[in-house]
Amino acid sequence: MRQKLERLASARDASEQGGGAARLAAQHAKGKLSARERLDVLLDEGSFVEIDRFVTSRSLAEGEAPIYGDGVVAGHGRIEGRIVYVFSQDFTVFGGSLSEAHAAKICKIMDLAVRNGAPVIGLNDSGGARIQEGVVSLGGYADIFLRNTMASGVVPQISAILGPCAGGAVYSPAITDFIYMVRGTSYMFVTGPNVVKTVTHEDVTMEQLGGADTHAGTSGVAHFACDSELACLQQIRELFRFVPSNNVDDPPRGSGRDPRDRREESLLDVIPDNPNKPYDMHEVIGRIVDDGEFYEVQPDYAGNILVGFAHLGGYSVGIVANQPAVLAGVLDINASMKAARFVRFCDCFNIPLVTFEDVPGFLPGVTQEHGGIIKHGAKLLYAYCEATVPKLTVITRKAYGGAYDVMSSKHIRGDYNVAWPTAEIAVMGPKGAVEILYKKEIAEASDPQAAMDARVAEYTEKFANPYNAAARGYVDDVIDPRDTRPRLIDALDALRGKRDRNPPKKHGNLPL
Ligand code: COA
Repeated sequence: MRQKLERLASARDASEQGGGAARLAAQHAKGKLSARERLDVLLDEGSFVEIDRFVTSRSLAEGEAPIYGDGVVAGHGRIEGRIVYVFSQDFTVFGGSLSEAHAAKICKIMDLAVRNGAPVIGLNDSGGARIQEGVVSLGGYADIFLRNTMASGVVPQISAILGPCAGGAVYSPAITDFIYMVRGTSYMFVTGPNVVKTVTHEDVTMEQLGGADTHAGTSGVAHFACDSELACLQQIRELFRFVPSNNVDDPPRGSGRDPRDRREESLLDVIPDNPNKPYDMHEVIGRIVDDGEFYEVQPDYAGNILVGFAHLGGYSVGIVANQPAVLAGVLDINASMKAARFVRFCDCFNIPLVTFEDVPGFLPGVTQEHGGIIKHGAKLLYAYCEATVPKLTVITRKAYGGAYDVMSSKHIRGDYNVAWPTAEIAVMGPKGAVEILYKKEIAEASDPQAAMDARVAEYTEKFANPYNAAARGYVDDVIDPRDTRPRLIDALDALRGKRDRNPPKKHGNLPL
């Protein structure tokens, strides 16, 4: 037995060496951690349990020594005590490239994760398909894509890109719920700078083409751009303070330290007197949620809408908020897509939605129309319509036109819709409305400006308020802004038992 144990110990030791000391040093020299070091940071100390450490490539060349693990470390561990399934590609072994056996290891832990209702976290650092294995490795990718799709909406799937992720490899992270990238060391693209140069004659660096800032700020492919791997892995741990392990679990509770009946005096001073003046919606969110903590998702993309997680009276909630400080908070193509995907994530995972609304409408313009704002805006509408989680809405100021309907209105199954006294719920703003309704009258007036001002004042008094909507029950109440936090927490309590269903169907046909 002892001899056999010695053999086991030496094999286990060998399985932890990856591609050897020189390649590990090269990995460190690039400012990157090894596959195992990353797991040490991501998971609770000592919680990692490895699966398939002795797996080797199924197609080694004549005389080629097998390398244990075949370029990926897989298994399960814990984050704040909760089980998560993980795989961490090892760039020191065949460049972390994906072979048949490597793919089979990933598929095994994905199957286990779904069967056991636990999240999957993939740490990607790979040269793509294992070139020596040809179509077999492409098949391996497809096996993973299929599992990503089947797991979507069943367990949260998180991707960290910590090195190259190119070609077909990008499509597994793309199907997952959140993508984290690291500035300077990670990149994602379908074809790299050399192919781009050949095909389109464009000169572009890897970082410009597919670096963290590009995807978190320009393409919207990534949700987070982090300054270091440590920060990235830490941020993934933080996410699990808000998201449940699967689609039938409740989301985790917050500490509940912040008093639930806390009134917030300062909310009286956030909205400027002039309705055309911007303010920062972060201020509103920060003053209402527990301990002012807002885990913002895609903070660098489509800043005219804010999305992210928070706790409210200890409940985990998904926040969607128009941001008047950027483009006056209009809905455009990027904002609609960003918020739609977030709303759908929350709905998949039983996370109530809290919407803060101050929206002047959809962004006008040829670029937007030709870019398909109709179908992209419809995504957000569709997402809110189909969502069956508790939906709470606070209209802080403008709720104009079709955007009023879209932003979790009563008509699309909003559960608790309230307005601040500063709300203006109308088809459009006073000036625009008067210019249409009284064009002729104003043109013919002896003093057109005075005529215009009088009509604007009349319209403002009649329509630019929350009371017409309240009279119809389209908002449930008009509240003192200072009471927003306690009112929302009361509503979350009251909606705790919410049961709502959509008609049985194979799946809907979201406008894509
Ligand atoms: N298949 C097999 N081995 C691969 C590989 C792949 N797809 N990608 C990288 N490797 C191996 C390299 O042969 C090298 O092996 P070695 O350590 O034994 O010399 C090791 O991984 C590291 O690769 P290297 O090219 O030295 O690293 P780099 O940091 O300079 O470049 C890449 C990284 C990813 C840009 C580069 O390896 C590359 O272009 N790989 C191919 C990408 C691709 O086209 N994949 C297929 C499309 S899905």
